[in-house]
Amino acid sequence: MGNDIAIDLGTARFKVYQDGRGIVLNEPAIIAVDNMTDEIIAIGSEAYRMLGRTSDRVTVAHPLCNGVISDLSLAEHLIAFYLRQVGRSRVFMPRVVVSVPCGVTEVEKRAVVDAIGAAGVRKVCLIEEPVAAAIGAGVDIAAPHGCMIVDVGEGTTDMAVISLNGIAIANSTHIAGADFNDAIIKYVRRKFSLIIGDRMAEAAKTAIGCAYPRRRLTTYMLKGLDALNGLPTATVMTSDDMIEALIEPAIAIVRTVQSTLELTPPELLADIFTDGIILTGGSANLYGLSTLLSKKTKIPVIVAESPGECVALGAGRAIKYIDKLERGEHGRINPLMSYG
Ligand SMILES: Nc1ncnc2c1ncn2[C@@H]1O[C@H](COP(=O)(O)OP(=O)(O)OP(=O)(O)O)[C@@H](O)[C@H]1O
Ligand SMILES: [Mg+2]
Repeated sequence: MGNDIAIDLGTARFKVYQDGRGIVLNEPAIIAVDNMTDEIIAIGSEAYRMLGRTSDRVTVAHPLCNGVISDLSLAEHLIAFYLRQVGRSRVFMPRVVVSVPCGVTEVEKRAVVDAIGAAGVRKVCLIEEPVAAAIGAGVDIAAPHGCMIVDVGEGTTDMAVISLNGIAIANSTHIAGADFNDAIIKYVRRKFSLIIGDRMAEAAKTAIGCAYPRRRLTTYMLKGLDALNGLPTATVMTSDDMIEALIEPAIAIVRTVQSTLELTPPELLADIFTDGIILTGGSANLYGLSTLLSKKTKIPVIVAESPGECVALGAGRAIKYIDKLERGEHGRINPLMSYG
């Protein structure tokens, strides 16, 4: 069993894969800070429980946004905290594969490498997120065959057509899981005059969310504040309400996929038509998103197994390429990018 690990710095969730063990950590990428003293009060699940329940004194922040660091110091704390949890002490100094979205700038890459390096890591290699997602979904990315991956996460929907270990076409939109929650909050306010928080919206989305009609109508009890009199109240939301709430962001994602397909070279497009589009990312769990995408594009859509963990899993499976990279074997045969 190796010491090497792979990390997916998601907007919502921090995931760690350990060589020989698989996914060993999948926790909220969130941190609570005391505004007066700048002291860190809580990290991860504990900080998530504070979301929407804080006073003016406490801010709950996401220090990472789709693999890009928005607050370096907080990101370093988060990374160090989770690496300690998986037992990575400075003594071992593992080598790390970390996923980054395609199209990140050199400065953004450097920030990721530095933040992980600060935790005492010996070597950091980067892998582009859609490539990692494809490996994690079980695709043979080295084949001269086109494969389309659409990763719907929390902050971003990333998509790419991959062939011969490389990305032929990549595209992304900032519409993803967080927008589903926002859409639910707005819809509930409009239809029921009910004010709910992000955590309630997330819970309802996970329970009865859908982007295509469910076979059976399901319901969820929403608790919040009556917008008219400010009193606590509860309302039942149905899965049909969910479709009305979520169709707009869901269609926006579909449109981005369609415009990516329009740019895809015909040979690769033919492969995608035969094999289907692969959906990864936690929001691929949204009921009916795959059906909606399939109906609109007229291409089969397959939701990967454990879609939320595909990027971390693929980055983990790419650990074996680190040795090749250290021997100087770059390029087409190696999905990893060396750094520093
Ligand atoms: N059953 C479900 N139904 C709908 N959405 C879900 C479900 N389970 C998880 N999600 C959503 O998946 C998202 C998290 O997915 P994931 O871990 O892939 O995101 P991330 O990697 O942290 O974000 P990003 O890739 O945008 O940086 C959250 O928005 C969450 O609400
Ligand atoms: Mg992600």
